Amino acid sequence: MSTEITITRPDDWHLHLRDRAMLKAVLPETTRHFARAIVMPNLVPPVVTKADAEAYQARILAALPDGASFEPLMTLYLTEDTDPADVAAAHACGLVKAVKLYPAGATTNSHSGVRDFDKVRPVLEKMAEIGMPLCLHGEVTDPAVDIFDREAVFIDRVLDPVRRATPGLRVVMEHITTANGVDYVKAHDKDLGATITTHHLVINRNHILVGGIKPHYYCLPVAKREEHRLALRAAATSGDARFFLGTDSAPHTDELKEHACGCAGCFTATNTMAILAQVFEQEDALAHLEAFTSHNGPDFYRLPRNSTTLTLRKSDKAVDYPKKILSGEGPVTVFDPGFPLFWQAI
Ligand code: DOR
Ligand code: ZN
Repeated sequence: MSTEITITRPDDWHLHLRDRAMLKAVLPETTRHFARAIVMPNLVPPVVTKADAEAYQARILAALPDGASFEPLMTLYLTEDTDPADVAAAHACGLVKAVKLYPAGATTNSHSGVRDFDKVRPVLEKMAEIGMPLCLHGEVTDPAVDIFDREAVFIDRVLDPVRRATPGLRVVMEHITTANGVDYVKAHDKDLGATITTHHLVINRNHILVGGIKPHYYCLPVAKREEHRLALRAAATSGDARFFLGTDSAPHTDELKEHACGCAGCFTATNTMAILAQVFEQEDALAHLEAFTSHNGPDFYRLPRNSTTLTLRKSDKAVDYPKKILSGEGPVTVFDPGFPLFWQAI
């Protein structure tokens, strides 16, 4: 016996595609199931200007698998030197959908990010004026703040003051990992949304650290206590329009993950939809899967919902998926949810 559901084709509102050989290897994993993705700009060097975004978009389109129908939604990496007029022009022509703010030093390739938030005020004011969303990596980098508290402290020290100082600024809290993040979003019903990753719905910090260190579960923001995972699951599966899928699928080669100083990132593009179907089923919320993966994101970004669909089928027997993706730079391990998957996109 099998069960099927058909949903509006999903989009990924936070994705790392990288460049060159890695881009070529990971792109089909996303285009197989997703119609669009907000593409992160943290390349080396980062995607800072409209011209950078044009060039990167062309490289993505050139790397698409034959016959794939996929729209990369481009972002700009906010630096203290970003020109508000360049941002506005990139948005006005439809090329760039959002600006990404990394606090300097918060994560992979974030050293060109923001140290002094006053320096980016003119850009944020311009974005508020034109209704362009700001995607935020919400963690403080103060070495005195414990890594497990960095999101909660960011909300108080940075996010709330920035939002108060810039009325009308539309903000996406990216990859929230705490009940504090969920509560902050729920307390504000205007101009605020949040993405939630697949892996943060599945793992808590024990999965990383108990019984030996598991580098493929290490990402940033790092997974927190179980109570936070449960708060994320409740938010994602609630149907609340302020929460939507951003996988943060972030490929690093096994060599760089299984390392004395391992890179942050979980690669979930391959099995995200299968895992999500299972999570939503476990929460008795399959009816809200489409809102999370396919409706809430475009509604927040003021883009049309996709007109095509994706069908997911549940089998009696566990379904196989590739455990590794081979790239020209080396193998990339696909996220292991730690339970067998019965759902499959067909
Ligand atoms: O785990 C992560 N990996 N978090 C980020 O914020 C960046 C990403 C990456 O680029 O590898
Ligand atoms: Zn990311």
